[in-house]
Formats: sequence, structure tokens, C-alpha cells
Amino acid sequence: MNTRHDAQVALVTGANKGLGFEISRQLAQQGITVVMGARSEERGSSAAEQLRQEDLDTYPVKLDVTNSADIEALPRFFQEKFGRLDILVNNAGVLLDWGVKPSDLDIDILRQTFETNVFGAFAVTKAVLPLIRESEAGRIVNVSSHLGSLTDTLDANSSYYDFLGMAYQASKSALNALTVQFSKELTDTPIKVNAATPGWVKTDLGSAEADLTPEEGADTLVWLATLTADGPTGGFFIERKTHPW
Ligand SMILES: NC(=O)c1ccc[n+]([C@@H]2O[C@H](COP(=O)([O-])OP(=O)(O)OC[C@H]3O[C@@H](n4cnc5c(N)ncnc54)[C@H](OP(=O)(O)O)[C@@H]3O)[C@@H](O)[C@H]2O)c1
Repeated sequence: MNTRHDAQVALVTGANKGLGFEISRQLAQQGITVVMGARSEERGSSAAEQLRQEDLDTYPVKLDVTNSADIEALPRFFQEKFGRLDILVNNAGVLLDWGVKPSDLDIDILRQTFETNVFGAFAVTKAVLPLIRESEAGRIVNVSSHLGSLTDTLDANSSYYDFLGMAYQASKSALNALTVQFSKELTDTPIKVNAATPGWVKTDLGSAEADLTPEEGADTLVWLATLTADGPTGGFFIERKTHPW
């Protein structure tokens, strides 16, 4: 396809369930065409179909963010199908060491966590950045966590202070660092790069004990993905407000 798709196009990683699914829904409800990345083709197709049943313009793409062939195929996929990509939401993530003390952590779990939460987000961003540079309103949103905030981690009054899960926490701190670095490189472009924490959300990762619904958790992420030209870049947000790194 050589013509440029009329509507804005977004890619959401890890979109087959949880926050990624809800972010996809809320973006598509704003008239954005949403490509839903999922490592399982079957789960991705069924998620995109579910939103199509709600009259939303959604498509699946097979995307394991740790699989270089999947990532390398992305630019051509977007170029041929839509001729554009405007928004990237790096949402795919794993939490594999909840409750594990640093001294008990298996280095393979640390590596696996970084492969998805950091290297995956980096590789996807790098692969699609040339396309996003062609957008008039490129937006990159990294789905981080309070648990990646070194300020919260060191604050004895924070409800996140006692959390044990160094691999996850360090991966989200690293994702925050990537956010800062990309935003600095892109400062003279229309592209805005931000990180946000959705809060503690009821998903498979967050558990049923969490206090927010996916609808509530997705709000700040969708806001950042659709910022107007005067919106912020290089920030870390919760409930649409800046949060200390
Ligand atoms: N829930 C919370 O309280 C909370 C709080 C702060 C931040 N977050 C962040 O929010 C994001 C979404 O989490 P969630 O709560 O929605 O969890 P979730 O329901 O477990 O969903 C995680 C998603 O990531 C996908 N994923 C995992 N590894 C992947 C890989 N290698 N390649 C592609 N996709 C992969 C999963 O796919 P499969 O279905 O194939 O496993 C799933 O679609 C994560 O980055 C998480 O760290 C969540």
C-alpha cells in the first residue's frame, strides 16, 4: 500500500490483555487505528477482534518484544499497511520476582526481566523511530511503575517502600532512564517521549488485590499518547501529574 492511512496509527505492545488491551480500546475510541502487539498470534487476533466487535479500528501484529525477527518486521508492516506510525506505547512487561529479596534473586530472572521490560522497549522504539519521525505528532509512552521510582523506593512513607522485587524495580528505573535519553535526543522534533505509572491495577500482573481498574490505570497513558503539541516531554507521570523519578 502506497497511500497514507488517514487516521493516526498507534502500536501498543503486550496488548492482548490487561492494561495494553484497555489502552488500545481507549486510543481506538478516539478514532486512532490501533495495532495490538501480542506474542501469541492467536491471543492477539482474538483481542483485536474483540475490539472490532465494539466498532473500533484495531489490528493484531505478532510481536514478542524479545524476538528480533518480530521487531525487524515492524517498519515494513506499518509502511505497507498504513504508510505511517504516530504513537508507540511500550506496555509489554513482566514481574517475575515479587517478594524476592535481592540476595535471593536468580540472575536469570534479572536477565529475563530486563530482556522484556528494558531491551524489548528499547529495540521496538529504535525499530519504529524512523517512521514516528515522519509523523507530525509522534508520541512514545513507556509504561513504567511507582516501583521504578528511586524516590518512592527510598521514601519510608511511601506504600511502595517495603516492596521486594529488585529485578522489576531496576528494570522500570532503567526504562525511566531510557525515557529521559530518548526525549533529550528528540527534543528538537515534534516527538514527545514520556513515562508513566498506571498506579496499582487489577490485572494478572497487578493481582486482584490492586485498587484500580484497567480503565482507570490506562487514563494517564492514553493522555500521554495523545498529548497536544504544547504537552510535556521527558517526564514521569501519575494521574496526569509529574512524579519524582
Ligand atoms: N498492573 C499494575 O498494577 C501495574 C503497575 C505498574 C506498571 N504496570 C505495567 O503495566 C504494563 C502492563 O501490565 P499489566 O498489569 O497489564 O499486566 P498483564 O495483564 O500481565 O499484561 C502484560 C502484557 O505484556 C505481555 N508480554 C509479556 N512479555 C512479553 C513479551 N516478551 N513480548 C510481548 N508481550 C509480552 C503479556 O503477554 P502474554 O499474555 O503473552 O503473557 C501481556 O499482554 C507492564 O509493563 C507493567 O509492568 C502494571
